Amino acid sequence: METSTDNFQHVPVLVEEMLANLPEQPATLLDCTLGGAGHSSALLSHCPEAQLRGIDRDPVAVEASRQRLETRFPGRTDVRQARFSELPAYVKLWRLRYDFVIADLGMSSEQLQRAERGFSFLLDGPLDMRMDPNSSDPNAAQLLQKINEHELRRCLREYGEERNAAKITRTIIERQRTNPIRTTAELADLVASTIPRRFHKPGFHPATLTFQALRIAVNGELEELETLLNILPDFLNPGGRLAIISFHSLEDRPVKKQFREWEQPCTCPPHLPYCICGKQSIGRAVNRSPIMATETEVSDNPRSRSAKLRVFEFKEWSD
Ligand SMILES: C[S@@+](CC[C@H](N)C(=O)[O-])C[C@H]1O[C@@H](n2cnc3c(N)ncnc32)[C@H](O)[C@@H]1O
Repeated sequence: METSTDNFQHVPVLVEEMLANLPEQPATLLDCTLGGAGHSSALLSHCPEAQLRGIDRDPVAVEASRQRLETRFPGRTDVRQARFSELPAYVKLWRLRYDFVIADLGMSSEQLQRAERGFSFLLDGPLDMRMDPNSSDPNAAQLLQKINEHELRRCLREYGEERNAAKITRTIIERQRTNPIRTTAELADLVASTIPRRFHKPGFHPATLTFQALRIAVNGELEELETLLNILPDFLNPGGRLAIISFHSLEDRPVKKQFREWEQPCTCPPHLPYCICGKQSIGRAVNRSPIMATETEVSDNPRSRSAKLRVFEFKEWSD
């Protein structure tokens, strides 16, 4: 795939809030979702002595970040194309532990705004939706060709929280039998025609949740997030902080749950006379409630409206 990196478009969200939640003088930084390197650039400007390592599964994002970071911060960065589940290999390669880790989940505006990436119900393009378009994983059109009715309904319910999942599924499966869907416009129009006009919400395309569900399925996003949450504690220094920005409840819920689990010491049932689980707290959630964008940021960058930042601080020492 051609990589056009000069005009990579993405406005990072909650940058000031991220910087306000850094540990003291972080020397090593890890960005798990480089995108256009907005958060990375802000971190490197704010911490002039720090080194940054970063990954993204999207080759276009990696190339754009590499160019931007090497130009502005020569010798301070190393960025690679990898997905979360491949991060352990790179952490090993870089031989570092990190004082601060950021993961800004979901997709970039660049991915959404390029018709050829196939993420947008507003721009016609091939129904792709792979964050790494060079991967051998099935794209969204191929997924629709092999998925059965039961699985598709479950995908729309679980990953889209789509109330009309059953109806939309029937229409898609029917259509697949005769004339498989190949483009984003075909899918968007089909879903829109399935939902009676009186149920269309103003300002909300009726295919929004169907596209969200397929994108999550195509990229295995929730499995990837679960893996990331499992592996990250090993990569942070004592006293280090992890910041995660999520954009919908399917992302935020596991983050919140994981932070609670890390925070909680013993999880034995209360009736037991003594602890048998041996579990210890490994740190604390820095804020009880997630940090949200200010009204000014939302009006400047509407994408920030649904963003939630949660920060976890790992313990300085073990008990
Ligand atoms: C919201 S954007 C990040 C934007 C970035 N913080 C910036 O300032 O430009 C999310 C990025 O995460 C990447 N991404 C999503 N899931 C990923 C995964 N499992 N592994 C690696 N990168 C992933 C996407 O390709 C996308 O570029």
